[in-house]
Amino acid sequence: MRARRGSRFGRIGLMVLAAAFTLTFAATTWAQTPAEINAALNAAYAKYKDIKEGKNADYIPALAKVNPNLFGIVLVTPDGKVYSVGDIKTEVSIQSISKVFTAAQVIQEQGPDSIANQIGVDATGARFNSIIAIEGVRTVVGAGAPEMNPLVNPGAISATSMVRGATAAEVWKKIIGIHNDCAGRTLTVLQDVYKSESDTNQRNQAIGMLMYAYGRIKENPAQATDLYTRQCSVNVTAKDLATMAATLANGGVNPVTKKKVIDPQHVPGILAVMATAGLYDDSGKWLFHTGLPAKSGVGGGILAVSPGKFGIAVISPPLDAAGNSVKAQKAIQYIDEKLGANPYSVTPR
Ligand code: DON
Repeated sequence: MRARRGSRFGRIGLMVLAAAFTLTFAATTWAQTPAEINAALNAAYAKYKDIKEGKNADYIPALAKVNPNLFGIVLVTPDGKVYSVGDIKTEVSIQSISKVFTAAQVIQEQGPDSIANQIGVDATGARFNSIIAIEGVRTVVGAGAPEMNPLVNPGAISATSMVRGATAAEVWKKIIGIHNDCAGRTLTVLQDVYKSESDTNQRNQAIGMLMYAYGRIKENPAQATDLYTRQCSVNVTAKDLATMAATLANGGVNPVTKKKVIDPQHVPGILAVMATAGLYDDSGKWLFHTGLPAKSGVGGGILAVSPGKFGIAVISPPLDAAGNSVKAQKAIQYIDEKLGANPYSVTPR
């Protein structure tokens, strides 16, 4: 009898313990319900859908023709749930967002020091295609000298040149491979964007040559610039970008396909470079307001990562003066605040 009563008290004790654990856990971790996530996405969509600020990029002629009203928001959680609103099916060119994944490929193959030593991991404080930034790195050496990173054009073309492969086809297979694995599907190249940018990318060709002249590209700068142009022309939807962001939010494992794409120990470094330089010369402002590592592209996409919580992406082509989508910045910032997802924000105990 005593033993039975003891076991009943034992069971009750266990239940009390479990309840206490659940309460503590709920109070200290991010636990937004699907309804709260959907409400945040829908409210952001409604709030910003009709604003008319910004302008499509036109220095790549094909980008000027993209529908400026295209607006889609997708959020993917580490358990693989997908939340969306607006146009999530139309494909745009990934542009500079590809820089994150090509750099990740180099880090995965050759370790983080390869990027840190050959390119750098610091802000340039200049526009994404600045030539002055390259000259600064070359001419000023030592403490306080200007630095570079793989998310501005010179550093990105250099990162593309570092992907190992005997032929351009071999290098491309790896570049598109990591994009496919993070998106969870086979992506294609938008040929009209690739052609349009190849016909007008003389500035990037010059950047590739300068990086070669200064030893930041070891060989074949023309091939590196061409592959870089191709990677920028990869076709993506908002859902693809959000899944790519969620792969980073989930320690390098694609939460939808469950494929391990990037070693977890490499993810913090990748996120740190995104936090430092993901929105170019506006990266500090962005981080100040959101706390989220992110990356923009002149195709109108921005993806952002709340580590362990979610990956989010918005596509809306009109850009501000720094080259970042106006609506995407507003929508992500709004959702970040509504969902309490800023990783620097902690409730005191
Ligand atoms: O190289 C370029 O200029 C474009 N393919 C990519 C630039 C870009 O996306 C900058 N983004 N905000």
